[in-house]
Amino acid sequence: MAEALLGILLENVIPLVQREFAAFSGIKEKTEDLSHTLAFIKKVLDDAKEKQWSNPPIKIWLQRLKDATYVLDDVLDQLPTESSQHGWLSSFKPNNIMLRGKVGHELNEIVRRLDRIAEDKNKFLLREGVRERPTEVAEWRQTSPTIISPQVLGRDADKEKVVEFLLSPARNSEFLSVYPMVGLGGLGKTTLAQLVYHDERVSSHFNLKIWLCISETFNVRRILCSIVQSITKNECKVLELPVMEEKVKGLLQGKKFLLVLDDVWVKNQQLEFGLNEDKWDQLKSVLCCGSKGASILVSTRDKDVATIMGAYQTHDLSGLSEDDCWSLFRQRAFRPDKAEDEELVKIGKEIVSKCGGSPLAAKALGGLMRSRNTRNEWLEVKESSLWTLPNENHILPALRLSYFHLPPTLKQCFAFCAIFPKDESIKKQELIHLWMANGFISSRANLDVEEVGNMIWNELFQKSFFQDVEINDYSGDVSFKMHDLVHDLAQSITEKECMCLEEANHTDLPKNTHHIGFKCDEVTETPFRKGACEKTESLRTLYDLNWYAPRNASYFCPTNISLRVLCTYTSKFPSVENFSHLRYLGLCDLEIKTIPDSIYSLHKLEILKLMQCNELFSLPKHLTRLHNLRHLAIDGCDALSEMCPDIHKLYELKTLECIHCEFSKRT
Ligand SMILES: Nc1ncnc2c1ncn2[C@@H]1O[C@H](COP(=O)(O)OP(=O)(O)OP(=O)(O)O)[C@@H](O)[C@H]1O
Ligand SMILES: [Mg+2]
Repeated sequence: MAEALLGILLENVIPLVQREFAAFSGIKEKTEDLSHTLAFIKKVLDDAKEKQWSNPPIKIWLQRLKDATYVLDDVLDQLPTESSQHGWLSSFKPNNIMLRGKVGHELNEIVRRLDRIAEDKNKFLLREGVRERPTEVAEWRQTSPTIISPQVLGRDADKEKVVEFLLSPARNSEFLSVYPMVGLGGLGKTTLAQLVYHDERVSSHFNLKIWLCISETFNVRRILCSIVQSITKNECKVLELPVMEEKVKGLLQGKKFLLVLDDVWVKNQQLEFGLNEDKWDQLKSVLCCGSKGASILVSTRDKDVATIMGAYQTHDLSGLSEDDCWSLFRQRAFRPDKAEDEELVKIGKEIVSKCGGSPLAAKALGGLMRSRNTRNEWLEVKESSLWTLPNENHILPALRLSYFHLPPTLKQCFAFCAIFPKDESIKKQELIHLWMANGFISSRANLDVEEVGNMIWNELFQKSFFQDVEINDYSGDVSFKMHDLVHDLAQSITEKECMCLEEANHTDLPKNTHHIGFKCDEVTETPFRKGACEKTESLRTLYDLNWYAPRNASYFCPTNISLRVLCTYTSKFPSVENFSHLRYLGLCDLEIKTIPDSIYSLHKLEILKLMQCNELFSLPKHLTRLHNLRHLAIDGCDALSEMCPDIHKLYELKTLECIHCEFSKRT
């Protein structure tokens, strides 16, 4: 992500610096220096990006560069927009003089910082010259918004074997039978489990089917709670273990159930909360209450799971055949309306042979090749040095390659998704709003920024970075997931830059964290201790993943003025006077009747969402002062009786969503 942001920022920043500061007496020279420094850095950027995978000092150098670029972007974002800057540079109004002085000082600082970084680049023998980039818009236009339902290839025999196990020996077994399916990441274990789960014979054989995704944390209390939730279809509070045990026993007593435990990880030195014998015994003692024939189907990358669970048989999943991998690759790589070029087919087959039978890799590579039409472009992928890099963090080479060849905007938009937890169902519209607010995407000729976001999302979907798409029948909302290996890729790219925090009470976040998603499981926990975000330089996103869900937690309001996105659960309206960069504000559970006037200082606000503010009586009177507002969503604000009268004067407003409000009931 570092490199992606850099590419975009440098491209925009150089002309901006030249334009904005041309007439800015006093620091004009400085800005010229700055634009030389940036141009200088830009020349070697491509080479640095490629070499960082195998050369850690270059990676650190890029990190420093990116951190400085974030700060530079903050400085520039304080400038008035082109339309409102008339007279700003020459105005003698005290406010303008002060702001000019402040910007001038900050600019001086950042130029010095960037100069030092530019000097250090000489240590790395980086080559100058810019690689040809795929043209972004042309590529997006080729995508279709249709969502293809995934086709499963080459797993008939595997499926029959698992179904047979569940239907015959297990049926006669007095004990709970466990059947682990073991295989490498991305090989298709979850997919096979889904095939079995939805098989008609399986559905009619069992009284009850439960599907749980476990992942790295094997928490018995939470698993029991999920079982209750799955059976009763109601929210279940995580209570003390003995209470949970009794509840589950009550529900499973005498039932012939099929429980799928997808993606189980074993405890080891790196993984503190994985499965171990004690936890298994604890869970098994509860599940044993089922009837004869009750079964557990497990998917895991780790053979030890079978030993821990005492399974007498495992299903070792092998890779797909080269023919099947080729079919998956081919469906994505070639357009249906065009004849396949024989030479490309030959190179394509050689690329597929490097996939090791992984359908995930075959799909990702197919998606990558779709926008490449020449022999040389195909050979470049086949012969890339990224295939042979040491496999750090188990990132599939095919995925890394596919990421590496994305255009910069797509790189950035994808890597940002590291703020979500693994296996999270993500709303497409919400993600596009987050991209917009962070300035990752912007409008183009004849295309609104939302449409550009939609195209980028489609492109990432086509390239298999996104999957498991679902469309809500009622609202039409599209949600999707990322495969866990794809999530690992995003995380390995962004490292500390984008983080997802799933535990409570964080203290001291790193200086170079810029985007945070957080999710607290326990409803009463506070995500951050006071001052936790103080050390972060240019924090852009603070996003509570459950910001709209009622809870008893104590409240949290940050003071980082660099924020572009703030979504949180809070009774008090945050002190936003200085949040001049904020584009997206989402607040839930405000205990106030009216919104304070400080909201008018959010000149750049584009997205405002208010949820469950039960006492809120009216919307800000002068909402039209937020003239950049594009999306306004109000949900569950029962007392709100009136829409703001001038709403029609918000000329940029694209969507207005009012759900469960007094006036929405009347109209
Ligand atoms: N037989 C298949 N045919 C077509 N696509 C497949 C097949 N098996 C898996 N896939 C696709 O490959 C990707 C990886 O599959 P899946 O999630 O089932 O892997 P997994 O083994 O469960 O990985 P992990 O160990 O990371 O959980 C998914 O996008 C899935 O849709
Ligand atoms: Mg899986």
